[in-house]
Amino acid sequence: MKPGVYVHIPFCEQRCYYCAFTVAVSPQHAHEPYVRHVIREIQLSQFSQQPETIFFGGGTPSIIDGAWIQKIVEMFPKGAEEISLEANPGTLDGAKLEHYATAGINRISLGVQSFDDDDLKNAGRLHGSAEIFRDIESLRKYGFNNINIDLISGLPHQQLNIWRRNLAILEQIRPEHVSIYMLDVEDRSVWGKSASDVSDDLSTKFYMEAVERLSKAGYVHYEISNWALPGFECRHNLKYWTGVPYRGFGISAHSFSKSAGLTFKRFWNTTSLSEYRDMLDADRLPIAGEEELTREMRLDEAFLIGLRRTSGFDIWSVAAELGIEYPREWFDRICKLEDAGWIQFDGIFLRLTAKGRLLANAVTEELLWPTLVSTSAAIP
Ligand SMILES: C[S@@+](CC[C@H](N)C(=O)[O-])C[C@H]1O[C@@H](n2cnc3c(N)ncnc32)[C@H](O)[C@@H]1O
Ligand code: SF4
Repeated sequence: MKPGVYVHIPFCEQRCYYCAFTVAVSPQHAHEPYVRHVIREIQLSQFSQQPETIFFGGGTPSIIDGAWIQKIVEMFPKGAEEISLEANPGTLDGAKLEHYATAGINRISLGVQSFDDDDLKNAGRLHGSAEIFRDIESLRKYGFNNINIDLISGLPHQQLNIWRRNLAILEQIRPEHVSIYMLDVEDRSVWGKSASDVSDDLSTKFYMEAVERLSKAGYVHYEISNWALPGFECRHNLKYWTGVPYRGFGISAHSFSKSAGLTFKRFWNTTSLSEYRDMLDADRLPIAGEEELTREMRLDEAFLIGLRRTSGFDIWSVAAELGIEYPREWFDRICKLEDAGWIQFDGIFLRLTAKGRLLANAVTEELLWPTLVSTSAAIP
């Protein structure tokens, strides 16, 4: 299967209060040197495979000149089937959309977060709802027929009526893809540092409403946080969730590779802009760390990722691939979790129920505890 390519564009006009991603609030003149270094990194990497998907993530890829995005796409062999770009409302214009179309970008992921102006202001967003509607209209006008909308459920002070209005607007716009993330307050974010007023219960309640409404509106709920109209699942993200290799470029980007000897390796770039620049100027790849995945790590990932997909995963394929046996006690645990309504198991596929998805990490941990590797005689 052809690999995916990820390109990280870290620049943002301001850090939103909830965000803990690797971003840089830098002046516009910093964009061009960064892109030149990304291009240098692609050259140095000698990555020459034809990617099936390319994903520009951030940060805010849409704040840099569209010509730079086009130049980066041209570094890869032609023919990627899905090229996505994350855009912030208020940062798009006709010139950028022309460049995107010429570059073959055929999927735009718009970070809407909420259609409510107070929600947006409270979260430190620089755009209002007017920019969101304007950008969606322009995207359609320029022929983009695969649009994702990101929403966050449970923003502080968000009321149920506002969330319901968000869902109603979503149904009207009918984007091809929807991602709904329950608000996560990480220590590194502005809200994490200021102990903001956040309710997990509300976030969960809002999420459950979305699950019900989007399914009635014809969306396929294919991953915990992702819904698509049939045929519009994000092919790039599916690679992450099915263990297909990908190569990441730019600061903080991660890569995953499988070698002929079936070693699985993950490596990641520095998160420092100055280190990234200096290493590339010295003709060195900006890699900050790497690890070979042990069988135990691969097993953990197979469960963690497999259970995030609503279709679940085939436990016997995982066992065959990793050479493990499930002990009898493990099946006893499966029965208990199934009786409690957290999971479903049909003898082959193991999946979380809607209730289980709300506590996905805890249920996954329970299934892996004290780790199948340590309980399996098949593992040396
Ligand atoms: C890589 S981010 C950035 C995308 C783009 N810069 C934007 O803000 O629209 C992708 C998405 O992650 C989500 N996100 C970021 N931080 C989050 C948090 N702390 N909790 C929940 N969702 C979050 C937002 O929905 C965001 O659109
Ligand atoms: S949410 Fe998007 S725009 Fe806001 S700081 Fe994070 S990456 Fe930047």
